[in-house]
Parts: sequence; C-alpha cells; structure tokens
Amino acid sequence: MKNLIENVELVKNQAFINGKWVHSNSRKKFDVINPYDGKLLISVADCVTDDAKLAIDGAQGALPEWKAFTAIARSKVLRKWFDLIVENEEDLAKLLTLEQGKPLAEARNEVAYGASFVEWFAEEAKRVYGDTIPGHQVNKRIVVIKEPVGVVAAITPWNFPIAMITRKVAPALAVGCTVVIKPAEDTPLSAIALASLAEQAGFPAGVFNVIPTSDPVGVGMVLTESKQVKKLSFTGSTATGKKIMEQCSSTVKKLSLELGGNAPFIVFKDADLEAAAEGAIASKFRNAGQTCVCANRIYVQAEVYNDFVKYYLSKVKRLKMGSGLDEQVSIGPLINQKAIGKVTALVKDAQKKGGTIKTGGKPVATGRNLFEPTVITNVTARMDLNQQEIFGPVAPIFKFRSAEEVIQLANNTKVGLAAYFYGKDNSLIWQVAEALEYGMIGINTGMISTTLAPFGGIKESGFGREGSKYGIQEYLNIKYLCMEV
Ligand code: SIN
Repeated sequence: MKNLIENVELVKNQAFINGKWVHSNSRKKFDVINPYDGKLLISVADCVTDDAKLAIDGAQGALPEWKAFTAIARSKVLRKWFDLIVENEEDLAKLLTLEQGKPLAEARNEVAYGASFVEWFAEEAKRVYGDTIPGHQVNKRIVVIKEPVGVVAAITPWNFPIAMITRKVAPALAVGCTVVIKPAEDTPLSAIALASLAEQAGFPAGVFNVIPTSDPVGVGMVLTESKQVKKLSFTGSTATGKKIMEQCSSTVKKLSLELGGNAPFIVFKDADLEAAAEGAIASKFRNAGQTCVCANRIYVQAEVYNDFVKYYLSKVKRLKMGSGLDEQVSIGPLINQKAIGKVTALVKDAQKKGGTIKTGGKPVATGRNLFEPTVITNVTARMDLNQQEIFGPVAPIFKFRSAEEVIQLANNTKVGLAAYFYGKDNSLIWQVAEALEYGMIGINTGMISTTLAPFGGIKESGFGREGSKYGIQEYLNIKYLCMEV
C-alpha cells in the first residue's frame, strides 16, 4: 500500500489521542482489509474502552483553550486543515479506494466534498451570531448568546469515510468544541490520515482525537454514556441509531442521528426520460448503491414504463465493475461478504415473489465482494426490498398509475431521508414536493448532496442537519442573559 501513497505521513497504524500517536492500551491491533481482493492493507491500534476514556479526557482538557480561541483564530486552523486535505487529495483518494472500494473518481469527489465542509465551516466560524430581544419590562434587556456544547463524539460510517467525518467535526471545531472520532472498523485509515493532517494544521493537543476500534459496541458505550461528552453525532443504520439514542438518554446528551433511508425515485409520464434514466443511474449506483440517499425504489408511470426501462437498461449494461483503482471502473466492490449476503438475499426474495431480473442478479464469481449491477422489473410492495434499504447496486422498478397512488406508495415507509422525482408539470411538482414525507427532495436531479444545503431526514431517518448554515447550530447551546438596568 505504501508504494501507492506518496505522503507516507498519512499512513499510520496508531490512534491519535490527546495530541499523541499511540498504540491501544490493550496493545492489540485489528486488520484493515481491501474489500476488492481481500488482502491485508495494514493492522491498526485496536482501541478499547480505556483508550476511549483517555481520548475523552484529552478532549475535555483541551476544551477551555480551544473555545477561548477567537473565531478568526479557529477559522485559520480549519482553513489550514482544508488546504492540507486539498493538497493531499490524490493520496487520500487512493487510501479511501483501498479501504472502502469505491472507484477513484468517486473517491476524489469524496475528498473534495469532505474538504468543502471544512472550508465552509472555517468561514461559518466567524458568523455565529446571537440576538437581542426587546425586553419584557422597561428596565430589562435580553441578549441571546451561543456557546459550544463541549466535547463531541462522532461515530462515522464506512460508506463515506472522509466526508462523514468532516461534515460532523468541522462545524464542531469551528464553534470551539473538541472531538473524539470513532471511525467505522472497515475504514479507519481515512480517519487516521485526516488526523495526521489535522495535527499538521495546528489544532492544539486534545482538540482532535481518533480512536479506531474493532469493538464499536464497547467503545460506543463509553462515548454514549460519558458525562463529559455533551453531544454525539452518528451516521449509520436506524437500528443502531435507536440503541445509541437509548444509551445517550442516561446523560440527556444532545444528539444528531443521520440514519437509514428508503428513497423513492419517481418518474412521471411527462418527464425527460433520458435525463430521468441518467439521474436514476447516478442516484442508484453511486458508491455501488451504498449510500443512505440512494434510489431504493424506482416508480415509473405506466404510460412510459417500457421506454424508461429500455433507456435505463442500456445505461446499466455499460457500467463496468472491478477494482476501484482501475480508472475505467464505475462500480467497485461492496464493503464485505455480509453486504453481499444481504443483497443476494433481497434479490432472491424478489425473484421468488415474481420479480424479473432484466440484468445482473448475482455476485461475481471471479471477484471478491463484487455484485453485478442489477435491474428488476415486475416489482411489488410484497418484496423485502420495498421496505429494506438495499445498500447495493440493485434497481427495482415499480409501475404506478396516478400521482395520488405514487405519493401514497412513496410515503409508506418508516423512514424519510431523501426522495426524487422527474416531471415537467409545475403545479404537480409543487404538489408532489410538498406531499413527500422526506427531509430532502431531488426534483429533476438524482444528485442532491452539497455542503451548501441541510442534509438530514425525518421519521426514523433521524434528526439534526449537517452542512449549510443549519449544520453549525447542532454544536451550540443557546444561553440568554436577562439584565436589569
Ligand atoms: C450518506 O450516505 O449518509 C451520505 C451521502 C451523501 O452525503 O451524499
């Protein structure tokens, strides 16, 4: 691996706790595996609960100094971190592809996307405004000030090992919080590389901590139950999110949860079908279908169903699978064998219940963790993939007749992260956008993620917003001062 990465400082096998690169208290390590070929990349420090406590102590110790920095001074350190991420884009992208599997072009996009949160919140650091409120009595003055919540724990997923860290920690750091990051066990290397650049950027010791671990439950428990940790931000499954919420209740911790999705992607009969098919490719197959905002259920109006399927199939058949390091490849491996098992079971269930596999449908015998880009028609609500997040390159295409029917079908799910639709009728566009019970709606586009907009869901997709002017508020307490004059 080291031959591929020019800046060797990015590749480390230790945790970063209180400004020091350290081995775990247990002296144990765990293996980081390339999902494409199953080969060992490196073994890294396997942090245990004691390490998590040390990291929290470090973050707590660094808090007074960091929050006393002026906003401009914090902004400068964040800006430096941003510059370093950008300077190291190619190395970070390769590291990301090696541990996560996504194609290099996507990895480069993720590094840029991840860096954009750091740049944005470096600026926003200077704009944490309070309020003055007309007093309720003639001799009263009311002022609202904002303060950092304190130590923040970030539990981040393997599908975006860089961007999901920066989206959480950049706003936290910007307002004066200190952070403890527990990266996913499949992808700790990107987090370690980000920590190495953060160290170089000049965050004081203890402000930025990374604790890789193969024990997410034990270490997670320390983070959720710690009295010192005042805010926890988690991205991952709804099931785990519910447990985290329960554990955080003992300290009434502030929480942001970005949980699972089941995105409908609706194509109305007046849509530009070519554009809709293109949008559905981008939305479905980015990161081999492993994003929370991936199109999970594609609904096409009966009048244009056959035409859409034809366009879509021709595009899907052109997608090339393989190693993410091959520049021609657009679909990399799934993260691990468990993911392959889940996607295979969902496809088999659909087939058993009458679905027609138009292309793909199975893992690739020659490659580890590769699953063929798959399109299924004759899909019905009885199939498991109607309610479960597929998290793989499988596109089920449903048929619908009216707007009322499809809105009802689209909303018939416990979660509400992202939804998409294509159509031209202006009044229908507003009607559908307002009726869909989701936190984010793509209208005539399959790509909605940007630093500039508030990312997050409703229902069992969680709460809290990341990115945009809203993202920074999640790391602030409101305090009001009532002064008698
Ligand atoms: C996610 O899958 O949680 C993040 C996707 C994105 O930011 O686009």
